[in-house]
Amino acid sequence: MKLTRELISRRTFLSNSSKASLAVGLVGTGVLSACSNDVKGDDKSILATSFSQTPLNYDFSALEPHIDAMTMEIHFTKHAAAYAKNLNDAIGEENVDTNKPLEDVLATISQYSTKMRNNGGGHYNHELFWQIMTPDAAERPEGDLAAAIDESFGSFDSFAEEFEKAAATRFGSGWAWLVVDSDKKLAIGSTPNQDNPLMDVSDFKGTPLLGLDVWEHAYYLNYQNRRADYISAFWNIVNWNKVAERFSASM
Ligand SMILES: [Fe+2]
Repeated sequence: MKLTRELISRRTFLSNSSKASLAVGLVGTGVLSACSNDVKGDDKSILATSFSQTPLNYDFSALEPHIDAMTMEIHFTKHAAAYAKNLNDAIGEENVDTNKPLEDVLATISQYSTKMRNNGGGHYNHELFWQIMTPDAAERPEGDLAAAIDESFGSFDSFAEEFEKAAATRFGSGWAWLVVDSDKKLAIGSTPNQDNPLMDVSDFKGTPLLGLDVWEHAYYLNYQNRRADYISAFWNIVNWNKVAERFSASM
């Protein structure tokens, strides 16, 4: 029975992710070769986000029991797909050069429409979110990232506590972040709605390494009003290898 469910889930995932990609993959294909000026060599592609939705590299059910399959499926194929589609509508309306990375648009988002802000942010935030989760999560980061976390926050536990607080206290909908700031230091903060730390309009700025979606659509089916339980569960599925790659590229 479990195998059958997994096969159905897998089939649904492949079908839906193909549709999502087809729906939004018609523009911005040159973006991965064009990146921000402050990132060098192969690191460029790590921090550059395409304007189209990237298929998930794990099943909708892969993050269970921490995030349930139905939440993942609706989140990816409905919410995130809509941000990608609406972003693509906006870039057509506002003549955005999609050979430049999405990050460049976000850095000057005050010059664009609210539609661009909401959907450009929504698309970027979700593309990052899928990447920094994995069913094969290590318990904790290692190497330079672990050392930087210890240096900035005292210990991993102190870091986790501060991040959880940022996620829990973000009123309404938004995101909690771990970023590298302009002084090349790690910092924790949060942003409202689909804003993010790359935006010139944001009070909290930096290069995102880790982002946690605390919109109710990210957890309500399984956790209902228990946002704190969802936040605690997140530590079981963080892709620390990907976060470390982003840290290295940001430094
Ligand atoms: Fe979301």
